Amino acid sequence: MHIRPRRNRKTTSLREMVCESGIFCSDLLAPLFVLDQVSGREPITTLPGQFRLGMAELLNECRELQNLGVPAVALFPVVQNNLKTKNGKAALDLNFFYYRVISEIRNKFPNLSVMTDVALDPYSSDGHDGIVDSKTGEILNDETLEVLGQMALLQARAGASIIGPSDMMDGRIEYIRNILESENQKDINIMAYSAKYASSFYGPFRDALDSAPKFGDKKSYQMDYRNKREALREALLDQQEGADILMVKPGLAYLDVISYLRENTQLPIAAYNVSGEYAMVKAAVASGWANEENMVNEILTSFKRAGAKIILTYHAKDAALWLQKN
Ligand code: PBG
Repeated sequence: MHIRPRRNRKTTSLREMVCESGIFCSDLLAPLFVLDQVSGREPITTLPGQFRLGMAELLNECRELQNLGVPAVALFPVVQNNLKTKNGKAALDLNFFYYRVISEIRNKFPNLSVMTDVALDPYSSDGHDGIVDSKTGEILNDETLEVLGQMALLQARAGASIIGPSDMMDGRIEYIRNILESENQKDINIMAYSAKYASSFYGPFRDALDSAPKFGDKKSYQMDYRNKREALREALLDQQEGADILMVKPGLAYLDVISYLRENTQLPIAAYNVSGEYAMVKAAVASGWANEENMVNEILTSFKRAGAKIILTYHAKDAALWLQKN
């Protein structure tokens, strides 16, 4: 035998030398749930180890993440039930606590990138990402864009560094980009949830925000998981409309989509390792069926191998701690 692939795997130094990918703290982005409270935290049953955070705990978490070398957080507001309406109007109220939270983090941690969420579901009494036509039940695209554009502008003015439209309305990147350009918010990044699939992996996130749809599903706006070429169509549109980063969501069951977008677009690719994927790992670990550190490292590395640069993950802090330790 002249050819023995095992030669390159023989020792640690050889394995390190030929290794093709790996994760760094700087690849990670931590999603966080924020409460309208000065302090305190609430556990999220379906996301063990994750909490809805009051302001004090949120600031602590940001400090720890920054010290660990995690460059960014994504903030999702927990909207009280009595503030949820059909058109999600709390999102356009400058006094809504989310805007205070964004400014506070911007001021306290000027070097941390703050990503904000643009979609109506946390604010909507219907639990949908857009405005629902009360007669037909249809999710109204263009009417929703007007609200999303204003939300994005308020977030940018409050100090967001990255706007994250997660709503899947058509034309929203261009709509938001136009508003930001014309309102002198030219340097705000947009991370487009380009290929966001209608998925059964979002359950724990919807528990965290109490944002599950009150009727129907999200299949008329989120993508059909049988489709891959359509993901490229969405991504190319977002690229052309002025996005800076393209995201695929969920991550684990969509590695082929990540790799396809990586090969066929020019922007950095992000993978969202969503709540249901995190919950599966946590459940296996709690049952004693898996080693958490090994399993999480393998999963996070798979996103990098597939071609993602950025990983949004609830494992961010743990992974960063493990990376620092080693
Ligand atoms: C909604 C939104 C969802 C997630 C992020 N933004 C859920 C949904 O579309 O219903 C899910 C993230 C996760 O599961 O971790 N705009």
